[in-house]
Amino acid sequence: MIKVKKRKILLLPGDGIGPEVINEVRKVITWLNSKKSLDFEIDEDLAGGASYDKHGTPITDEVFYKALESKIVMLGAVGGPKWDNLEFQKKPERALLKLRKELKLFANLRPAICFKQLVHASTLKPEIVSGLDIMIVRELTGGIYFGEPRGIKPIDNGERKGINTHTYTSSEIIRVAKVAFDLAKKRSNKVTSCEKSNVMEAGQLWKEEVQTLHDAEYKEVELNHMLADNCSMQLLRNPKQFDVIVTDNLFGDILSDQASMLTGSLGLLPSASLGEKNKDGEMRAMYEPIHGSAPDIAGKGLANPIATILSFAMALRYSLDLDKEADNLEKAVQDVLNDGLRTKDIVAKGNKEVSTAQMGDAIISKLK
Ligand code: IPM
Ligand code: MG
Repeated sequence: MIKVKKRKILLLPGDGIGPEVINEVRKVITWLNSKKSLDFEIDEDLAGGASYDKHGTPITDEVFYKALESKIVMLGAVGGPKWDNLEFQKKPERALLKLRKELKLFANLRPAICFKQLVHASTLKPEIVSGLDIMIVRELTGGIYFGEPRGIKPIDNGERKGINTHTYTSSEIIRVAKVAFDLAKKRSNKVTSCEKSNVMEAGQLWKEEVQTLHDAEYKEVELNHMLADNCSMQLLRNPKQFDVIVTDNLFGDILSDQASMLTGSLGLLPSASLGEKNKDGEMRAMYEPIHGSAPDIAGKGLANPIATILSFAMALRYSLDLDKEADNLEKAVQDVLNDGLRTKDIVAKGNKEVSTAQMGDAIISKLK
């Protein structure tokens, strides 16, 4: 087994605006190294379409092994129309899915926070979203994304059949539910578990296992079960009823996109994908902004680096136990927003529009 190097950070900028936003994180890391004597070792390599263009594969074995020995992987974004017609195994997204699966990053944390400075950027009424602070915990290595059998095969009548399989085992459900309960204990102590137990056996198992775990180990946390379609509706009707939502891979993909829009700013939302702790307490992890590669604005200095910088703040908190540095970085972001600086995606009347690099520099100038 490859051992994790405690100080190693692997930057995988990827495609589209990925390189621009990762560049700002690199500046933050360099600042921490020089001003706080944090001896992070930075490495950088290709993933996604950028890797396909150079090596004919979305991620090479060499890069994959670098990821395995890194304490943290910081990913920008992968994909773009240029690679849309590639065969399935060569698509840029396969790099992401391989990293998630092979690094066993089963718990995906996607906070949806409505920044007070941006309440009016949401498509929902201010009173519905102001003060919103939800954490979606998405199972990331199971379910229909990875289940077997899968594929497209010819069938008797000359048609073809597309097959994907939705499966969950008890242990897969329990380990991600534990993450959700543990997080809730540090927040508002409330978990909503979402599935489709009314139509899917895997959903029924999900509900039963979460309830059993709750009754055995987390009685002090409030637990509600909700059908995923209802959850999607409730997220728009009254999103502040939620604290932590735990759900499977596919529902989590959809519900987290929906929740992110409540905040009015895709460019501000970070994510963390966490693995299991080994017996030495070591955990692999990957951090990435939840926005995609946005090829339409790539290379123009328009991208918002805040989601990526806040993803690095999550890395400081969850992987490095540097809570003080994480607070400091998050505070710097708030300070810059209070000063009225905005990248183009969130600029409004009275703000000062800045480029990707100017935003990164402004945040660094607020670090203490
Ligand atoms: C996400 C993305 C990915 C997913 C894609 C890019 C494979 O939508 O991280 O939510 O479906 O998981
Ligand atoms: Mg998604």
